[in-house]
Amino acid sequence: MIPRQPTMIFIEGRNLPAHVGIIMDGNGRWAQQRGMKRSAGHKEGARAVRRIVRAARRLGVSALTLYAFSEQNWSRPEEEIEGLMELLLEFLCSERDEILENSIRLRAVGNVDRLPGIVRHALEALSKDSEKNTGMTLTLALSYGGREEILEAASFASDRAAS
Ligand code: FPP
Repeated sequence: MIPRQPTMIFIEGRNLPAHVGIIMDGNGRWAQQRGMKRSAGHKEGARAVRRIVRAARRLGVSALTLYAFSEQNWSRPEEEIEGLMELLLEFLCSERDEILENSIRLRAVGNVDRLPGIVRHALEALSKDSEKNTGMTLTLALSYGGREEILEAASFASDRAAS
């Protein structure tokens, strides 16, 4: 019998994608299937994000983009939006040291001006403090829509070409 091994061991460096994009979807269904509230699904989604960031960094992925909150998501019930913003803030605070210690550059794309001030400030602070990091770029797409996404992608590409 083949012993069970973490999947990661089987991923060869040369097969790694340089940029991985993940649409954070299915939290509600995950919770529903287990008879839990949607909020529990979002909490589990945020936990999964932590594991994904660590794994991506360890594997040597250069860029990880998480599509976390779309423009359409603003139409969700207020309580759900508040819970999501709390999870986002919690992530930015609890992962701050690990992000900096592991040379991860954090950036946000999307209409971030729509986010609550406290979340925006935490995002701005960590983006600034991590801007020189070169280990991996972690992009959070927040309040994103197709149009913003294209504009941001174009500005990111031109920044990189200039550096
Ligand atoms: C989709 O699930 C997920 C979201 C709308 C929000 C995901 C964002 C967070 C969990 C906040 C924390 C973010 C980070 C980056 C730590 P859904 O409700 O659309 O699920 P469904 O597709 O099953 O309906």
